Amino acid sequence: MTDEQRPPGEQSTPDTEQTTGAPGSPVGPSAAPAGETQAAAVKDAGSGGAHDPSQADGTTEAAPAATGHARASDRASDHSEHERGAANALLRTDGVVAGYVPGVNILNGCDFYVDDGELVGIIGPNGAGKSTLLKAIFGLIKVSEGAITLRGENITGLKANELVAKGVGFVPQTNNVFPSLTIEENLEMGVFQSPKKFKQSFEFVTGLFPALGDRRSQRAGSLSGGERQMVAMGRALMMEPSVLLLDEPSAGLSPALQDEVFVRTRQINRAGVSVIMVEQNARRCLQICDRGYVLDQGRNAYTASGKDLINDPKVIELYLGTLAKA
Ligand SMILES: Nc1ncnc2c1ncn2[C@@H]1O[C@H](COP(=O)(O)OP(=O)(O)OP(=O)(O)O)[C@@H](O)[C@H]1O
Ligand SMILES: [Mg+2]
Repeated sequence: MTDEQRPPGEQSTPDTEQTTGAPGSPVGPSAAPAGETQAAAVKDAGSGGAHDPSQADGTTEAAPAATGHARASDRASDHSEHERGAANALLRTDGVVAGYVPGVNILNGCDFYVDDGELVGIIGPNGAGKSTLLKAIFGLIKVSEGAITLRGENITGLKANELVAKGVGFVPQTNNVFPSLTIEENLEMGVFQSPKKFKQSFEFVTGLFPALGDRRSQRAGSLSGGERQMVAMGRALMMEPSVLLLDEPSAGLSPALQDEVFVRTRQINRAGVSVIMVEQNARRCLQICDRGYVLDQGRNAYTASGKDLINDPKVIELYLGTLAKA
């Protein structure tokens, strides 16, 4: 079996991460689909997304200095607000501390929750720990303190394949399709733990993304970046998850395709799937999400409805960048 054919979790992962056998795990560089390099350096947080395509030109905008932390004195009230809000959460993290190297914490006590049916966005500067939070939730890195809870059950430390079986789906930031496999085979990989689900899940997914059904025999490697993103989402949806974790689904896509991703994400959410969406296109993300979190240095610096965050002068100044004022 070549690296491309192997389920993502069986491919090489950074030494510091746990290896999993679940779909959607980070994959080694050998499986990187051509032309889908991560636009990590192109963080157009304030570029206006589909509503302002003239500014989504791929210019690199330095991430604002990470000075937007809530003060220590604000922490207690933030935490009690989190406690109140998260009382009936579908999935929550409480004071999660995690990192890749012993003694170097990337997440520094992260409180987060998503309710049933919600679409929650996570934005923040490069290196803030957004991807790390998703990896911690999905059991790909060790949580040293705090807890992750799904429907009241402590799922901290469970492996990705166990989480998939419990209804958590994950679409990683990069390398999220098997290029040498067809669309249909990619979707089959999504249910490799429960092959009997294939028929029903295929109908569910192609109902949401009809193009995937129409082009089921096409190799994923020959698809555009946007189409591949649909395959990756489709694969994660094959297990009909109750919550879907999306890591920068619009990264590296043209403004038109970015818009398609946001529309599809909303559609997935309306189909009853709760969504946690990390996004570099912060403005567009906040426009479509029910609630948003600004993550900074491994902590949630701000939390509010997407609408409130997008209009918050502090958030604009510190995280949405100068373009957001235009
Ligand atoms: N596999 C790894 N091993 C060691 N350190 C890592 C690893 N992955 C990420 N880091 C470090 O963890 C920190 C947070 O990274 P993370 O990928 O979570 O940031 P992010 O908020 O998703 O940033 P971006 O917007 O660039 O995607 C960074 O300092 C990064 O260098
Ligand atoms: Mg990231």
